[in-house]
Amino acid sequence: MEKDNARQRVLSGIQPTGTFTLGNYLGAVRNWPLLQNEYDCVYMIADQHSITVKQEPKLLRQRTLEAGAMLLASGIDPDKSLVFIQSQNPAHSQLSWALSCYTMFGELSRMTQYKDKSAKHADNINAGLFTYPVLMAADILIYNAHKVPVGADQKQHVELARDIATRFNNLYGETFVLPENLNPKVGAKIMSLQEPTKKMSKSDTNEKATILLLDDETKIMKKFKSAVTDSENCVRYDVENKPGISNLMGIYNVFTGKSFEEIEKEFDGLGYGAFKEAVGTSVVEGLRPFQTKYNDIISDKAYLQKVLTEGAEKSYAYAMRTVRKVYKKIGFVQFDK
Ligand code: AMP
Ligand code: TRP
Repeated sequence: MEKDNARQRVLSGIQPTGTFTLGNYLGAVRNWPLLQNEYDCVYMIADQHSITVKQEPKLLRQRTLEAGAMLLASGIDPDKSLVFIQSQNPAHSQLSWALSCYTMFGELSRMTQYKDKSAKHADNINAGLFTYPVLMAADILIYNAHKVPVGADQKQHVELARDIATRFNNLYGETFVLPENLNPKVGAKIMSLQEPTKKMSKSDTNEKATILLLDDETKIMKKFKSAVTDSENCVRYDVENKPGISNLMGIYNVFTGKSFEEIEKEFDGLGYGAFKEAVGTSVVEGLRPFQTKYNDIISDKAYLQKVLTEGAEKSYAYAMRTVRKVYKKIGFVQFDK
């Protein structure tokens, strides 16, 4: 990791709670490699965040490694960026405790994701689910990240991290960089193929609602064919009245680079069947290089382990500098070595 004040830093994370969806890819992961040349980038597999919801240990281990392979397959280059598993860098949890004492109960109560998840997992409203955004703030602030590329659903958490940083800086003097969300222009929110007013999510129980990045051609085409649309039979961008078609247009736009206007012209008078087929094909082709690379990486466990171990060591060394600085400001005794 470069010294402070060199390039601006980017940090992001993704939970290893399942195969990434097309939403994760377009809203987040696909944009991450694009930032490597301009920023100093840190990308993390947020396994500690994922246990706020019940996880099966064996599956969590497997999915964590798969997430690592997916990040590398998306084009993140370990020679340029740091990639690591959150639980292998204990500095984040250390900072998280300190920050939790500068985060208000009321602030955490207002977090939309907390409200949604506690409604969905009413039998397990644990303290971690509530303090989740504090750990996320620690992930971000510990690297003095300027930019945090996440989908729209995580924006509120980035704003909270900024508020916590501001509060700490006001109390103790300049300590943290104030982070900002870096939102992709397109693909910021990909919706469910079955309920297009809901975001596409890894945890959706309806298989047809989500495109998984490792789905094969047949599956992808089938899912697009059964995507929910409307009865107008006209390809037109109108999120309010035509959420299904607009979502498909958003996806097609990202993979083909065609504007909404061009897409409307292309399918003028052709009906939804042809449009869905074209969207499906663009996704199959668009994901092919990713899938090939993923298969290579997941079958080379030694390589994956080496990259993740080095990532954890390097990120820990940097992160501990922030922890020491914060401890000193707070008033924790530190003996000279
Ligand atoms: P998660 O699946 O909650 O771990 O999210 C990982 C990243 O993907 C975050 O940056 C999310 O904002 C992003 N993301 C998740 N679902 C979607 C979606 N349907 N559309 C766009 N971005 C998404
Ligand atoms: N909470 C994020 C999500 O579910 C994942 C995450 C954890 C994250 N720590 C982060 C994202 C830090 C950005 C920055 O998507």
